[in-house]
Amino acid sequence: MTADRGELTPGIRSEKLKKLFISIIDPDDTEAITSYLRFEDDNRFERQDSTESRDLRVEKLKRKISAGDTVVILACDGDKIVASSSVTDLGPDSQEAWADGTLVQQNYRKEGMGRELSLMQEEAARKASKEAIVTAINFDNLGSIALRMRSGYVLGRAGLSWQNKGCYGLRKDLENKNPEQTDWATKVLAGEIKVPSVSDDAGKFNDQLLIDVGDFEGIKDILTKGYRGVYLLMPEDFPDEKDKPINKNYIVFVKA
Ligand SMILES: CC(C)(COP(=O)(O)OP(=O)(O)OC[C@H]1O[C@@H](n2cnc3c(N)ncnc32)[C@H](O)[C@@H]1OP(=O)(O)O)[C@@H](O)C(=O)NCCC(=O)NCCS
Repeated sequence: MTADRGELTPGIRSEKLKKLFISIIDPDDTEAITSYLRFEDDNRFERQDSTESRDLRVEKLKRKISAGDTVVILACDGDKIVASSSVTDLGPDSQEAWADGTLVQQNYRKEGMGRELSLMQEEAARKASKEAIVTAINFDNLGSIALRMRSGYVLGRAGLSWQNKGCYGLRKDLENKNPEQTDWATKVLAGEIKVPSVSDDAGKFNDQLLIDVGDFEGIKDILTKGYRGVYLLMPEDFPDEKDKPINKNYIVFVKA
């Protein structure tokens, strides 16, 4: 492997992650490419070409890395891959890079590794002068939705795409370096934003509201009314409240 990044971002919160080694795969490193695809297969990370032979997939990926279309990032604990991520569409044909497959092994999750890899995807996209980075996530993949929405991605589309399951389309603007941060939990506590009640008809929606992250149809509908999902709010965001104002995960929607 070449182009080693080495250590993780200074200040990463987990001691467990501090010993990981981060690298970017070189197109000539067949062994690393093969290990990466094996890591995804072993962790049942399905792709459209997952049923093709690994040799063929290795060759395809080599070509994409060589052409500057794709960057693959690995996090290793010793010689074992424990997390991986790739970003595609880095060539000149598109203004948007594609955040393609971020996978953290089960016992390394919820420690900030996904966030770190997501930042590295953005770094690769910025280097390629992309104006945005986009992705699509199955509506029931809470971990991935949480990772993206808490890293500044905006939910702006909902459609059918992967294995006939509903997907959310998310996008992060890379040109806006200092996006406005809102403390949504405080707004909920102040009663400024809430889940619309049954009596609220479509015309009376507020400019900001909450919708259950798993309510695919409701989210499809609100997107047609000009709203965009800007944050995923979780009960854990209210650590000091004995009676949590929300008992499940909600997406904050804001009228665009
Ligand atoms: C999605 C995935 C990469 C997240 O990796 P991770 O290392 O656990 O992510 P992080 O620890 O960096 O978490 C990032 C944010 O998402 C939140 N989050 C992560 N997993 C979550 C979950 N299952 N439920 C709720 N929130 C979650 C974290 O709390 C964190 O938010 P915060 O920092 O604002 O508190 C990991 O769950 C995974 O590998 N999933 C399987 C593969 C997959 O589905 N990939 C995406 C395909 S499109």
